[in-house]
Amino acid sequence: HKSNVLMAFTIVPVRLQSSQPVSAARLPCRVKVSAGRRYAWCACGHSKKQPFCDGAHKASAPDISPLRFTPDKDQTVLLCACKQTKNAPYCDGSHFKNSTFFQNPAIFLKLFHKIFPN
Ligand code: FES
Repeated sequence: HKSNVLMAFTIVPVRLQSSQPVSAARLPCRVKVSAGRRYAWCACGHSKKQPFCDGAHKASAPDISPLRFTPDKDQTVLLCACKQTKNAPYCDGSHFKNSTFFQNPAIFLKLFHKIFPN
């Protein structure tokens, strides 16, 4: 159909830079952090060293800065990777929103055990 062919050529998103974060992963990163150490959580989603900043935001999302935080105790935390959390840098469960696996108990349980293997 002619209009479909036209659509195929007109809907070509070209976004080299963005002020919106992109999702680096659907699930949060489970990491051990140390008391008193400074960390820079990637807020833009472009870092290759998730969940931490590798400087990629400078080229890919110059309007976004990493979130620096210093834990007050040694602990294992879930750091957000979908970049939709309202409680950065920590996961607040936002990745569940609109996700099909949340409505599928079998997949949900499998993923739950992946995050909390013990
Ligand atoms: S690379 Fe994402 S905030 Fe720096």
